[in-house]
Amino acid sequence: MYKGAIKSRKKRKEKKREVFAMVAEFVPVQELGKSLKEVPKNYIAPEDKIPVVNEPGKSVPVVDLCDFDLSPEQHERVVHEIATASSEWGFFQVINHGIDVAKPQKASRDFFELPKEEKLKYAAKEYGFKSDGYGSKISNADDAVQLWRDFLFLCTSPKRNLDNWPAQPPEYKEAMSGLADDFLMLAKKVLGFLSEGVGLPTDYFEKCFGIPNQSILTNYYPGCPEPDKVLGFMPHSDFGGLTLLLQDGVPGLQVLKNNTWVVVEPIPGAITINISDLLELMSNGRYRSVIHRVQVNASRPRMSIACNYSCSFDSGVAPAPELIDEEHPQLYKPVKFGDYVQEVVKKGPTGKSYMLINHDSKPEYMLFQKH
Ligand code: OGA
Ligand code: NI
Repeated sequence: MYKGAIKSRKKRKEKKREVFAMVAEFVPVQELGKSLKEVPKNYIAPEDKIPVVNEPGKSVPVVDLCDFDLSPEQHERVVHEIATASSEWGFFQVINHGIDVAKPQKASRDFFELPKEEKLKYAAKEYGFKSDGYGSKISNADDAVQLWRDFLFLCTSPKRNLDNWPAQPPEYKEAMSGLADDFLMLAKKVLGFLSEGVGLPTDYFEKCFGIPNQSILTNYYPGCPEPDKVLGFMPHSDFGGLTLLLQDGVPGLQVLKNNTWVVVEPIPGAITINISDLLELMSNGRYRSVIHRVQVNASRPRMSIACNYSCSFDSGVAPAPELIDEEHPQLYKPVKFGDYVQEVVKKGPTGKSYMLINHDSKPEYMLFQKH
């Protein structure tokens, strides 16, 4: 056997050992939360002095989709409300969307309530959301602040490998696959409203994305003995195109607006939708991908199901030429989605500046600094 082959076999063996070590050392936060009175040091988040607003009347707009039985006037209202919310907040909630959310929510909660040993059968083999799996840490770096959260990540489009998905509870695969299909349809409809909202043909943004890359990230935030010291999700904007999210009845998600954290009110059955980075770029900044985070609480576990709709990693995206003129100069440069994701993973929330043309003219919502 020649040297190269021996070397690469050795490498593969090492890699296998590494993967094995990662899975073995993974302690779900759900287990930590049961026994501790104080949070471990590596979970303590940097202090943040931005005030929190928690008043339903001051939260993100709610849009009634009337089960898509829309008269021309109602259609116009929906387009207007979604476009306004997406430029002022980057977030909105939809009600009467016609999707059964109870089944996937119950199946997901039942998964997280299984014994640790059963869940660990599905432990993610790699960091960085590259493949299906259950996990908690997103990085193995010594100085990385760990999140007070466990997750289950599923790739849902263009391919679904149902063999990797949890076999327990028995209805899990069907419920989540159904949700992925429903979310693909809803995302396409919302992209239609968003295209019309900036005066473009209905299928404009959908065509820009091409064959969608879709994934579902179920986040489970256990109760925490010192909730003010940790974060369930660090401040970030989503790097895909559009995010559809199911909250349960427990508040926790907060959106940055005028330098305050605004709590996204949990409305039973509603779907929270937010513009993500690629759509901000494609719309030349008309729609905003806004920073958000998740706080946890002392006693009530919280679960969310976040579904990301974007393009394939080797596709390029660019601002719509129709949305560039004298009044609206081009703010972003074309990027290859895969390169962009790498940049964001490397640099954190400020990785987003990679797509800006003029680095001196960062819009205020891109200037988020950790305090
Ligand atoms: C996300 C996210 C919010 C939540 O998954 O990107 O921001 O409420 N989740 O869990
Ligand atoms: Ni997010």
